[in-house]
Amino acid sequence: MSSPSTNRVQLTIPKLIEKVQAGEKLAMLTAYDAVHARLADAAGVDMILVGDSVGNVCLGFDNTLPVSMAMMNHHLEAVARTRPKAFLVVDLPYLSYHLGLEDSIRNAGGFLQRGAQAVKLEGGANRVQVVKALVDAEIPVMGHLGLTPQSVHAMGGYAVQGRAGHEAIRVVEDALRLQDAGCFMIVLEGIPADLGARVTQELEIPTIGIGAGPGCDGQVLVFHDLLGLLPGKPAKFVRKYMSGYEDSVSAIARWAEDVRGGVFPDARESYILPEPARKLLNEWHAGEGRN
Ligand code: KIV
Repeated sequence: MSSPSTNRVQLTIPKLIEKVQAGEKLAMLTAYDAVHARLADAAGVDMILVGDSVGNVCLGFDNTLPVSMAMMNHHLEAVARTRPKAFLVVDLPYLSYHLGLEDSIRNAGGFLQRGAQAVKLEGGANRVQVVKALVDAEIPVMGHLGLTPQSVHAMGGYAVQGRAGHEAIRVVEDALRLQDAGCFMIVLEGIPADLGARVTQELEIPTIGIGAGPGCDGQVLVFHDLLGLLPGKPAKFVRKYMSGYEDSVSAIARWAEDVRGGVFPDARESYILPEPARKLLNEWHAGEGRN
């Protein structure tokens, strides 16, 4: 099979919109370092998201709230150094766009200076001002509605959103407000599939779903979920394409067993001492070379 990355052009917002208009669904995957980014780009994904899910997935936090700008910059820089052809989006972490427009523009603009092509932020009507300010500063903004992980305490947990009629209407209204404010795309997370499809119909800009059903214009998954790298039962909306956790644990255990059994490394994994050096070493050992 030829690599999907062969001859790929750099993806941009107009190219992504063209794909959607041509009836193609967009695939966005999270990546938190250069290894993830190279794998995702080689597989030909349309967008890479340096998500603040790095907090739960890689940094051991219980939620995304402790993730800072410094942490996001560190992970964004690692991904951006690989110069992916996929369109590169980065999450604005909690408190990086809540404390004033100037602060928000500085934080989001700093991401663009580090190689991101767009930023993502969570929230609806309450984010209209900040979205407008960022767009006005030439910073493309992706919205994020429904189950927004930075609102975990306000929501009272990670429950599916928009199940009640008034909540469903609010999701649609928020999406329209974000579109009017200038968002170029919106992530819909953890909402019923019917609502995901309805929001997608109501909007002119594309939607990207995660636990929002097949009616969205594209889908996003967390890298580690797709590869099954995390232990335990995944969320309902995850499809695992390999058993990365089990396969990795088994490979590491086999290596440790080989080390303990003295069968790793063998000759194939070892460097050979050239004959003259071996002779000299033997002579030295026999005392002839010592003074
Ligand atoms: O941080 C993240 O990974 C995300 C996706 C779940 C959309 O925001």
